[in-house]
Amino acid sequence: MIDRSLLALLSVEPISGVLLAERLGISRSAVWKRIQHLRDAGFEIETKSGQGYFLKHPVEWLDQQRICNALDAMAKKQLGDFHVAEQIDSTNSWAKSETKRKAGIDVFLAEQQTAGRGRLGRQWVSPMAANIYLSLRCHFNKGLPALSGLSLVVGVLLAKALRAYGFDDVGLKWPNDIYVSGNKKCGGILIEVAGEANAEINAVIGIGLNVSMPAHFANNIDQAWTDLRQYAGEKNVSRNQLLSALLNELLPGLKRFEDEGSSEFLSHWPEYDVLLDQEVKLLDGIHQHIGRVLGITGQGALRLLQDGAERHYHSGEISVRPLRTI
Ligand code: BTN
Repeated sequence: MIDRSLLALLSVEPISGVLLAERLGISRSAVWKRIQHLRDAGFEIETKSGQGYFLKHPVEWLDQQRICNALDAMAKKQLGDFHVAEQIDSTNSWAKSETKRKAGIDVFLAEQQTAGRGRLGRQWVSPMAANIYLSLRCHFNKGLPALSGLSLVVGVLLAKALRAYGFDDVGLKWPNDIYVSGNKKCGGILIEVAGEANAEINAVIGIGLNVSMPAHFANNIDQAWTDLRQYAGEKNVSRNQLLSALLNELLPGLKRFEDEGSSEFLSHWPEYDVLLDQEVKLLDGIHQHIGRVLGITGQGALRLLQDGAERHYHSGEISVRPLRTI
């Protein structure tokens, strides 16, 4: 359970330990312990000499009502169940286990994940009330091959929403990473599917977006990362507003993908492609392929130019090779 009452007191203006103790009806040492607890959970609580404790970034809790009120008619039409948890192991795992109650695309959100999962068995660092941890559960009935390109389509939808929100520098790194400002990852997509290869498929689309990563959690991230707050300038990034903006793209977009396929979405990939023309190394299982990125195919495979020949790859992990010095 998180300490909402203490967080509320710290959100207004700096407040002394004495006053906090009085307001909460506890001792000063109990206040200090509760402050430590919040700091361990990732809340950045600072002190101002002579005035007391305050929260560096005010907390904005996820608010289902607010998110849904800002959905447009097209998104509302596709929306199924809407779940928000304070703490969960992983929203993807939750989406796979929860019973479905109504038609449409189901939304699963959490303030915190205790076992957030990234691609390739990595952990996804998921501190409390800081970022977006979202899973969408969708039902498709055209079989597995019809889902090829889905993760790239989701990337394009997210990038479009983020640009419209004001992050002009958003980019996509094939196959699943969301970038801002060229070379740092601020989000990723993890899709898990279950069902009959040629018929009904349940897909869980997991989206992690770093909004305001507390500094001390960043030590656990094993790749170059960033968060949206760093690119927002003076503007405060509201997770609730951002979620409405993302769902306004994703919910109708996924329906369109189901009806019409991926090609129209993938035609927008070049507008966001951070790898285009870069010399890269693609790690595909134990195989390593080096070449220059030419873009993606109509099906979403990566096009690499290797020794004068073009080859296509459907999976793998890319690292950009440093420029050679001469
Ligand atoms: C990646 O490795 O880039 C993919 C990260 C996906 C993280 C999201 S957070 C919401 C959902 N729940 C999880 O456990 N993982 C995904």
